[in-house]
Amino acid sequence: MDRLWYGGDYNPEQWPAEVWDEDVRLMQRAGVTIATVGVFSWATLEPQDGRFEFGWLDDVLDRLHAGGIRVDLATATASPPPWLVHEHPDVLPVTEDGVVLSVGSRQHYSPSSATYRRYADRLVRAVAERYRSHPALEAWHVNNELGCHVHRDYSDESAAAFRRWLEHRYGDVATLNEAWGTAFWSQAYSSFDEIRPPRTAPTFRNPTQLLDFDRFSSDAWLEVYRAETAILREVSPGVPITTNLMGFFKPLDYWRHAALLDFVSDDHYVDPADPAAPVIAAMTRDLMRSLGGGKPWILMEQSTSAVNWRRRNAPKPPGMYRALSLQAVARGADGVMQFQWRQSRAGAEKFHSAMLPHGGEDTRIFRETVALGQELAGLSDLVGTRLTAPVAIVLDWDSWWALEQAATPAELSYQRLLLRWYRELWRRGVLVDFVRPDGDVEGYRVVIAAGTQVLPQAAQDRLAGYVRGGGTLVVGYQTAILDEHLHVLLGGYLGALRDVLGIRIEEFAPPAEPSVTGGPVPALELAGLAAGSAQEWGEVVRVAGAEVLSTFAGGMLDGLPAITRNGSGAGAAWYVATAPDDLGAVVDRVLAEAGVEPGVPETPDGVEAVRRGDRLFLLNHTDHEVEAAGTRLEPHGSAVLPTGATADDGRAD
Ligand code: GLA
Repeated sequence: MDRLWYGGDYNPEQWPAEVWDEDVRLMQRAGVTIATVGVFSWATLEPQDGRFEFGWLDDVLDRLHAGGIRVDLATATASPPPWLVHEHPDVLPVTEDGVVLSVGSRQHYSPSSATYRRYADRLVRAVAERYRSHPALEAWHVNNELGCHVHRDYSDESAAAFRRWLEHRYGDVATLNEAWGTAFWSQAYSSFDEIRPPRTAPTFRNPTQLLDFDRFSSDAWLEVYRAETAILREVSPGVPITTNLMGFFKPLDYWRHAALLDFVSDDHYVDPADPAAPVIAAMTRDLMRSLGGGKPWILMEQSTSAVNWRRRNAPKPPGMYRALSLQAVARGADGVMQFQWRQSRAGAEKFHSAMLPHGGEDTRIFRETVALGQELAGLSDLVGTRLTAPVAIVLDWDSWWALEQAATPAELSYQRLLLRWYRELWRRGVLVDFVRPDGDVEGYRVVIAAGTQVLPQAAQDRLAGYVRGGGTLVVGYQTAILDEHLHVLLGGYLGALRDVLGIRIEEFAPPAEPSVTGGPVPALELAGLAAGSAQEWGEVVRVAGAEVLSTFAGGMLDGLPAITRNGSGAGAAWYVATAPDDLGAVVDRVLAEAGVEPGVPETPDGVEAVRRGDRLFLLNHTDHEVEAAGTRLEPHGSAVLPTGATADDGRAD
């Protein structure tokens, strides 16, 4: 499309046909350019086994087309109808405790179910054959939020699929035993037949088995996507295909998933009550752009105001819906879509906001919806433009899964680790890409790897080579501790990074709360760079050539290195062994040394500035009026200003 996508999930099957004309009229008023249709319409499209009813959908698509509205057409496979479950209860997923999940909500199927696959394939083929030539068809929308509710399925059918997956990965059971470290706790297997998914067990389960089940489960959802796209490509070649991702979604390795999408799309629901909402949203937008290798992406779902699935659901104050929408566009989105077009009258999402609320046209939300549609129409020239980031943060699902397992030195949140670094860059107006640990990092002035606990040899070598070639690598604690089988990198951890960092780690020493009497986790103290308190993590670092920029002060770590820097080849490698409260001081030094300039004017706290193409986006995320870049912004107000020039990308030559 030569316009930005603007619209939302459209579920006309929830409404009588009389409403449909009003829908199209109001969509036009709101500047809607495209609607996602049919996501949950399986039971309406196939009310009985093999009996398809397409008349109503023909009618809906024709009306949309007549109204100039394009269609992102769903394959409708996300919620199998009750008749299917009644005939084939084997499709139902099973939890790790052995509970069979029932029909009556949605996503009640195992990704490994052959029966589900057969029925879903038949539906996808029927929908594709029916609508492949429909003039409103813009894109195919496969299923919906794969893995959203059922992250992993522990049924017998999945167990069999897991065994096949393991055989393919390891070839023979001896290799598996070695990888899983089954000499520990008498876990050795004598054949693949003995292996089960890591169901609920008396205590800590085998870490590598858990990791492999995470990998397998992510791949199982990938197979659901693959199976549907194979049919779509055969029946409807040339039409772009996507499925909606869910931001920093732990259960699915989105590097692997995104590689299969024609374009990346994302569903993102910030909590309006969370002060960190804007930075979390920004980080997620940057992830989506990165997953697509820098290509424009689509914000496929967000709410215009409140959701209905938190314990208490705050509305978005006036201006926030616009600011977060413009933020997505500024950070590379070619579209802003909502869940959903018309707020439901019945069902589990009737209290979830929509573009057209229960109150109808004469409402704040609809007015904001119309105004945003007009504004986005004026930004069409940005379609297809790309951004370039000078800094990259490493993101790795294996590390996420491993770091957050049980039986570790401390409970850590991978996302929080990344957010800490991201936030400092965001505050400084520095654009960030995310990269895989073995991804292409040449060209970034700075690469940050924090909590990348699992670092296989190839990735270690790649990052070490990046430093020697002139890059600035910043390594945060719990990086390069384990290999891809979760075996420890012996001799001081860090593997090939040990040399470029000029340090080794001798012992982990996270501060801990008293487990019996309770109380807060004590802070650590730092002297030197980022002096003051530090949180969450400490460790015994021994230098082997690195310069010590900061030390721990007090306690058993007193005087030991907390932040180090080591020149190596043409570059430099920093190590940060804790979470300093003043992480900004570290970031300032690193950016200055690496010659990174933000490329946007400095703004007050809580005001985001981003350049895309020849526009400067100013977003006031605070609830007070501010002045930024010579522009007055209301509370939650935004401005999109022409810059007269495209942004200097600030990347190394
Ligand atoms: C997800 C789903 C939608 C809807 C929204 C509600 O994103 O894809 O169908 O349930 O959540 O926030």
